[in-house]
Amino acid sequence: MSPPTESTTTWRVLEAPHPPSLDSPDAWAYQGIAQVEAEVTTEIHGYDDLADEARDILAGMDSQQYTTKQRFVAVRADAPETPRPQDVLGHLALALPTSSNTHLGELSVQVRPAARRQGLGTALWETGEKILVDAGRTVLFTDTQHGAEPPPGPGALEARTGAGRVPADAPGPRFVARKGYALEQVERHSILALPVDPTLLDGLRTRAVQAAGPDYRTLVWEDDVPPDRREQVGTLFTRMSTDAPVGDIDFREDPWDAQRVGVWVDELLGKGHGLLMTVAEHVPTGTLAAFSVFAYPKDRPAFAFQEDTLVLREHRGYRLGMLVKVVNLDELAVRRPATERIHTWNAEENDHMLAINIDLGFTPAGGYAGWQKRVGA
Ligand SMILES: CC(C)(COP(=O)(O)OP(=O)(O)OC[C@H]1O[C@@H](n2cnc3c(N)ncnc32)[C@H](O)[C@@H]1OP(=O)(O)O)[C@@H](O)C(=O)NCCC(=O)NCCS
Repeated sequence: MSPPTESTTTWRVLEAPHPPSLDSPDAWAYQGIAQVEAEVTTEIHGYDDLADEARDILAGMDSQQYTTKQRFVAVRADAPETPRPQDVLGHLALALPTSSNTHLGELSVQVRPAARRQGLGTALWETGEKILVDAGRTVLFTDTQHGAEPPPGPGALEARTGAGRVPADAPGPRFVARKGYALEQVERHSILALPVDPTLLDGLRTRAVQAAGPDYRTLVWEDDVPPDRREQVGTLFTRMSTDAPVGDIDFREDPWDAQRVGVWVDELLGKGHGLLMTVAEHVPTGTLAAFSVFAYPKDRPAFAFQEDTLVLREHRGYRLGMLVKVVNLDELAVRRPATERIHTWNAEENDHMLAINIDLGFTPAGGYAGWQKRVGA
């Protein structure tokens, strides 16, 4: 790939080698990608909680059962034959779902701030789009992250859902808009500072327990999902893929079964993360009616991620969403007391979920934008 003539940095794009472990000489690429992740997310947010580490990248690439993944790096042209992590100037991640959503191709590019506006991002992007289109993917999806939502006006781009904005002149939106992608949806990134005021939590817990009544009980699982419950948890994940609002993004049903839940647990544990899941069981039928999940790196105890929360349609209206969230928070306080903050993301138009999070004390901390482009048939 030849760089533009006005460029001050020259580079080459190559597929990242997949090392057997992070001790392998081939691990330079994943180490370099992790450095770029840390630089770019710190630039956007001022902290690196959201950056994938090298072990996350390795575990993610090891797991190819449901999605084919590929990674490329742009490496400084004068790098040694086995480049060093610092020679990685930018990277491209591709995801091609294979068990569902086979019309979709996802791509993501990051470039170190010091190497920008020389065509490197475009070189990686074009590499990625070609692979996705050649593979027959007709809907291309990407995302941008933002540190704060701008006020309405000329400096802001509105999502096509009508809810949520991103800064129009930030590098990511400028770049992907020029590549022909439409801003479909914005999710609000929120942070909950811990500990939550015990009086507030007691009040929310009491109301939720009362509304749920005697037909529901909660169960809590740490770092595992019991094998005899995996099929039911798979149903909750499947419903997540259809029930959470996605605007006009062409995400279709993504079926999960017991085996896939096991793969998900193994991947989390394999990269040194933990999980804490609270479910609400409808006792008369044994149905798992609701769940809420925290995931977190075990060696970085200051933060956790609030992952999926869902109540099955036929069990809504009993405050089960609040119930599973409050119980999961109670359990986190006991099992991982060093946690200082929780990150979560919700569609700006998802009023019910946002209302629960606001009641719990989550405050806005930025945005995550979903962009889509259709490329034919
Ligand atoms: C978006 C990004 C990948 C661009 O990388 P790059 O190497 O600068 O890309 P290119 O040089 O090929 O293209 C630069 C274009 O991006 C946009 N851009 C990049 N930096 C910008 C900045 N500081 N201000 C405004 N626009 C910017 C402009 O459209 C620019 O074109 P121009 O230089 O002709 O004005 C890089 O800024 C980045 O890593 N951003 C954070 C991650 C991200 O948002 N990725 C995109 C979605 S996955």
